[in-house]
Amino acid sequence: MRGREHGERLILDLSKPSIARMYDFLLGGTDNYQVDRDACDELLRLAPSTRELARVNRAFLVRAVRYLARDCGVRRFLDHGSGLPTRPNVHQVAQEIDPTSQVVYIDNDPIVLAHGRMMLAEDPSTTAVLNADMRETDEIFRSPEAKRLLRDGRPVAALFVSVLHCIRDEDDPWGLVRKVADRLPPGSYLVISHLASDDPEIRRGLTEFMQDITGGAWGEVRSVDRVGEFFEGLQLLEADRPVDVSRWLPDSDLAPRQRTQEWIEYGGVARIG
Ligand SMILES: C[S@@+](CC[C@H](N)C(=O)[O-])C[C@H]1O[C@@H](n2cnc3c(N)ncnc32)[C@H](O)[C@@H]1O
Repeated sequence: MRGREHGERLILDLSKPSIARMYDFLLGGTDNYQVDRDACDELLRLAPSTRELARVNRAFLVRAVRYLARDCGVRRFLDHGSGLPTRPNVHQVAQEIDPTSQVVYIDNDPIVLAHGRMMLAEDPSTTAVLNADMRETDEIFRSPEAKRLLRDGRPVAALFVSVLHCIRDEDDPWGLVRKVADRLPPGSYLVISHLASDDPEIRRGLTEFMQDITGGAWGEVRSVDRVGEFFEGLQLLEADRPVDVSRWLPDSDLAPRQRTQEWIEYGGVARIG
């Protein structure tokens, strides 16, 4: 786990698409390459709803962070699988409520660190980017950035937004979420969204496609029940069960909903203890 030193060259592997850059393309960003756009074209042929899904998911993340900052008083955010900077970023949403809000971004794609540095220039005293595999919980919590976030014992919101499907069953993503939850101060929160389908054929097809195209940097598309297990024993907020995230506290009745549903982003916001 590390931060990239100034002057160090970033070496990009452009032989295969990256999840961070594909997601950036789906959101209409420009930090992507032909290999990512070609992969998205193939994905959109298989699952045409995916572009809409990415937007709906990002809008959920923004609503959840704003809600936690404004209505729950959260000022600390640990964003696992943060992706490439996409305005508004988590710190921009939280700092609209309180400019002292702190965010640690974690991603294992080096391009996120490279672009994150530019974003950090905004205010390095409140934001940090770690280039780390989020499965390395011990190392992440030992980092000076995470220690600073946790130092005053105030509640933290741990975000796992559209990233747990990158972890395979054998790596126990449920155990990972519990481990992080156990380390957070009392009164902390979890925000989770996860690609899900209750059609086994769709789950198998999209999982195989994503594993293949990303060279194995992918886990599983899961059933809604399996995603629901991430919330077991937790108090869900603003919904009595996990939901298609376009339905989680929509800004209005006219807010975008996911129309076609080969797969959905399923999840919610919960209080830990
Ligand atoms: C689909 S993007 C989601 C970005 C953001 N959370 C959002 O929802 O808008 C998933 C991100 O997770 C990152 N990622 C995947 N596996 C990871 C891992 N094991 N550790 C850290 N980041 C990971 C990818 O590089 C990518 O940037």
